[in-house]
Amino acid sequence: MKRHVIVSPPDRPKDLFLSSRKLILKEKTEMKILAVSDEECPALCDFYVPGRLDDYDLILSCGDLKPSYLRFLVTMSHARLLYIHGNHDGRYAEDPPAGCDDIDGQLVTYNGVRILGLGGCLWYHDGPYQYTEAEMARRIRKIRHAIRKAGGVDIVITHAAPKDLGDLDDPAHRGFQAFVDLIDTYHPLYFLHGHIHQRYGHRLPREHRRENTRIINVSERYEFDYEAPADRNAEIVRITRQRRELENLIFGEYQGEN
Ligand SMILES: [Fe+2]
Repeated sequence: MKRHVIVSPPDRPKDLFLSSRKLILKEKTEMKILAVSDEECPALCDFYVPGRLDDYDLILSCGDLKPSYLRFLVTMSHARLLYIHGNHDGRYAEDPPAGCDDIDGQLVTYNGVRILGLGGCLWYHDGPYQYTEAEMARRIRKIRHAIRKAGGVDIVITHAAPKDLGDLDDPAHRGFQAFVDLIDTYHPLYFLHGHIHQRYGHRLPREHRRENTRIINVSERYEFDYEAPADRNAEIVRITRQRRELENLIFGEYQGEN
């Protein structure tokens, strides 16, 4: 069961994660999440019917999607859309997916869920959003402090796959060992990636597992119900109540003075 308190409309997208007054506070972290990547899903655009996106609380893009498609999804749904870059997303510099939030290289918290974004793929030729193993490992090291401060990470979204866990052998589609190390260090519940289109093979597995981490190839779209573990939920309830009390204290007094 979901219990919502809607505080107020957003001022600007950057306010989303910590200080936004529009944050929807839930006392239990259950979210229906739609993840998209690489190929537009006809059912969600060309054959869209009103209400088809209503159930989603959050949309995550794992890259290589047209900005117009992301703008459509965020406009037609009630959900926030967080994205990272694929290796074909240099186009976002000229034509950004307005209304969506870029979390590439960042750890953000949404409704108590800690989400880490790492776009790009393993370097295979000169082009945007391609990284060597050393460069990707450096990007992860830069976020270490934020992850520690947040007490961990729940969902990782990337474009490339982890090495030998859903990647392919050709130079353009090899995965990162740095992502395997990231999983082994922080044990996220979900690791969502793109870049490996399902139509590249007739028996490409959609999911891999490494200990408790579910590694999912989003390829077009993948939806799931996210529920925080019990210990994390207790922490979310505590933080949510504290924040609500603070809101009531500040804005209750403010209203009282007028
Ligand atoms: Fe790609």
